Amino acid sequence: MEYTTLGETGTTVSRICLGCMSFGTSDWREWVLDETESLPIIERALELGINFFDTANMYSRGESERVLGRALEGRMDENVVATKVFFRMDEDDPNSGGLSRKTIEQELAASLERLGTDTVDLYQIHRWDYDTPVEETMRALDDAVRREKVRYLGASSMWAYQFADALHASERLGLERFVSMQNHYNLLYREEEREMLPLCERAGVGVVPWSPLARGYLARPHEETEATTRGRSDSHARQHPYLENGGREVNERVQQIADDEGLTMAQVALAWLLEQPAVDAPIVGVTSVEHLEEAVAAVDVSLSDSDVEYLEEPYEPVPVSGHE
Ligand SMILES: NC(=O)c1ccc[n+]([C@@H]2O[C@H](COP(=O)([O-])OP(=O)(O)OC[C@H]3O[C@@H](n4cnc5c(N)ncnc54)[C@H](OP(=O)(O)O)[C@@H]3O)[C@@H](O)[C@H]2O)c1
Repeated sequence: MEYTTLGETGTTVSRICLGCMSFGTSDWREWVLDETESLPIIERALELGINFFDTANMYSRGESERVLGRALEGRMDENVVATKVFFRMDEDDPNSGGLSRKTIEQELAASLERLGTDTVDLYQIHRWDYDTPVEETMRALDDAVRREKVRYLGASSMWAYQFADALHASERLGLERFVSMQNHYNLLYREEEREMLPLCERAGVGVVPWSPLARGYLARPHEETEATTRGRSDSHARQHPYLENGGREVNERVQQIADDEGLTMAQVALAWLLEQPAVDAPIVGVTSVEHLEEAVAAVDVSLSDSDVEYLEEPYEPVPVSGHE
């Protein structure tokens, strides 16, 4: 495994972050693995040198945090755990979502309990809250750091102007600022190259992209998209413009380079992302140990300049997806 630092912090993270949205319960989404299927994958990740794990309060309505907490019991200190807040946890309670002080304090306490820890390494806002002043959010997050409940702050998908606004608010008020951006970025969705990635590079913010394999669309030929349980049932995947414009051709080129180089499609797609200068660690989602082993092997793959150019060439702008 290769390691890097998380943004400009001194904390070391593996270049593959294990996404834990796949772990929890299939009662939440059909393709999600239950605890007995998830634990061996997390154990193998630790053996392979992964020390960076991403979850969220809303994944499997808290069950993903519980599974991760049990898997890392007694080993939290050696690992870097990230979770998130924003989406509503209880449909009947408007204060169970958003980024008000009340929500952040209550949801953080619930996440820590489920994870079985007093402190979480990275606490991320899952989206932008249009109803709460950013100053209130940043003060509540700063207090969480002062109270030693959180070590670092991170953000996830939003417009670049909003992220710049939040960074500026922290600076203006002398508060902790975001050290990382978890955004939607892969070979089939590159709109983040316009504004967000240059902002992150300029501000020294680490980038940890989500859905690096386009939820599976980059990991198998497009005619086989529906070959797996997730491919058939992940309605969120269909909301993204993966096969629009040049998408089909990008998928075919990934397949072609994988065949030529003796790699899998997932490895080609991850190798491309790992070579992007802004990217610290893609957050890979897996539903088997084999997927995980392939992702880890991708860290050692180096694509030639001509392969990179060939992979990138068919991409055409697509509608923004992942945030509103
Ligand atoms: N911040 C946000 O808003 C946000 C949004 C989405 C995700 N996330 C985070 O990002 C993580 C990853 O998201 P994701 O699961 O959508 O990511 P992804 O890595 O793009 O897709 C994962 C899917 O790709 C397929 N796959 C993975 N490795 C493979 C391989 N070697 N060969 C063939 N197929 C392979 C599997 O599909 P099959 O199961 O169909 O085989 C797997 O479920 C999540 O766990 C979560 O932590 C964050």
